[in-house]
Amino acid sequence: MSIQIPRGTQDILPGQVEKWQLIEKKARELCEKYQYREIRTPIFEHTELFHRSVGDTTDIVQKEMYEFKDRGGRSVTLRPEGTASTVRSYVENKMFGYATQPVKLFYMGPMFRYERPQAGRFRQFVQFGIEALGSSDPAIDAEVISLAITLYKELGLKKLKLVINSLGDKESRNAHREALIKHFEPRIGEFCSDCQNRLAKNPMRILDCKQDRNHELMQTAPSIIEYLNDESRRYFEKVQQYLTALDVQFEVDPNLVRGLDYYNHTAFEIMSDAEGFGAITTLCGGGRYNGLVEEIGGPETPGIGFAMSIERFLAALDAEGVELPIDEGIDCYLVALGDEAKDYTVSLLHKLRLAGFKAERDYLDRKIKTQFKAADRLQAQFVAVLGDDELKVNKINVKNMSTGEQTEVELDTFIETFKGFCHHA
Ligand code: HAM
Repeated sequence: MSIQIPRGTQDILPGQVEKWQLIEKKARELCEKYQYREIRTPIFEHTELFHRSVGDTTDIVQKEMYEFKDRGGRSVTLRPEGTASTVRSYVENKMFGYATQPVKLFYMGPMFRYERPQAGRFRQFVQFGIEALGSSDPAIDAEVISLAITLYKELGLKKLKLVINSLGDKESRNAHREALIKHFEPRIGEFCSDCQNRLAKNPMRILDCKQDRNHELMQTAPSIIEYLNDESRRYFEKVQQYLTALDVQFEVDPNLVRGLDYYNHTAFEIMSDAEGFGAITTLCGGGRYNGLVEEIGGPETPGIGFAMSIERFLAALDAEGVELPIDEGIDCYLVALGDEAKDYTVSLLHKLRLAGFKAERDYLDRKIKTQFKAADRLQAQFVAVLGDDELKVNKINVKNMSTGEQTEVELDTFIETFKGFCHHA
């Protein structure tokens, strides 16, 4: 039997890959405008990093990590997300000492989670994410959220829903934690064994349980919003004020908890509201993680960021019927008739390309008609036909494929003349 691709992964083939490239390009351009700079970290890290940052009681760490022993017996893990690595690198490279603050970073690359594959859920997926470290100005929270929304909108998505919540500071969270324990403890026996473990360790995680999500106690659980202290409440209000100033619409959802442990204050998700999008509608998730840098061994530093997968971005575009403006087609296809002409097109093609044109020729010794078909398939704007006879008299015939117009031009100066025909380069 032939070998097949692993479940939950995909090959991105020519035809599709142009869409990925366009999204990546737009994301990079936007990051430049917002002044986020790219960081590239390894695909695998010491397993301990994710235990400490994403959290021991999360599904990601408990059930979804590609964790293995390397040949030296060390436990390493394929990164399930990008924040942990970014913060590790921030600490390791002492970015808190950079002259430019806050430190604004972005990343784009594959992440790995051993989840049950379904529409929108892959085992290897590509995240584009940003992290702003070193500022606790609510204006940066609004900026981070607005960057994500702007990217989606610039590429044509309209049916978006932004939900935000505040998970408060430590004091607020402790008060909420006590309330949650009081709420769940008497009937914790009715919950799954994971939730039973979570009760003492991290009761907020119970709210994120997939298995028990329909239990009646879930609906009546105390929400963090009620337990925000004055400072946390004020912070949250400021974030909302700034979002409004940026013309970003949002809903407050007091039940939004997120699946990773490092969050406090602002948490948010952007969903697709498009009909028929499927069960998993979250396109982007993020939030503030003051305290994470310390947890990883750095100085007290606030941080906030988001991540979105390109896979779900594309699914949302599909669901809304948005066609990305992919630049297809080539500028010139060279058709050669006769051996000498064929030889000549080898260097002529090279010159066209050096002049900046997208150009191609036949490599299969095909008949002229078939060469024209090949040119059509490549959506060539122009076809230049060179026969042995033309070659002798220093001519080449250029056909504009959209108007059908044909022009005979001097072969010597063809590249220069072609620049006047085709403005692509
Ligand atoms: P997350 O909510 O786990 O957050 O993932 C963020 C996004 O990654 C999701 O909204 C979704 O677009 C994508 N994603 C996650 N899992 C999959 C999957 N199995 N298949 C396809 N796409 C997926 C984080 O990862 C945080 N690090 C975000 C963050 C950055 N928070 C602060 N900074």
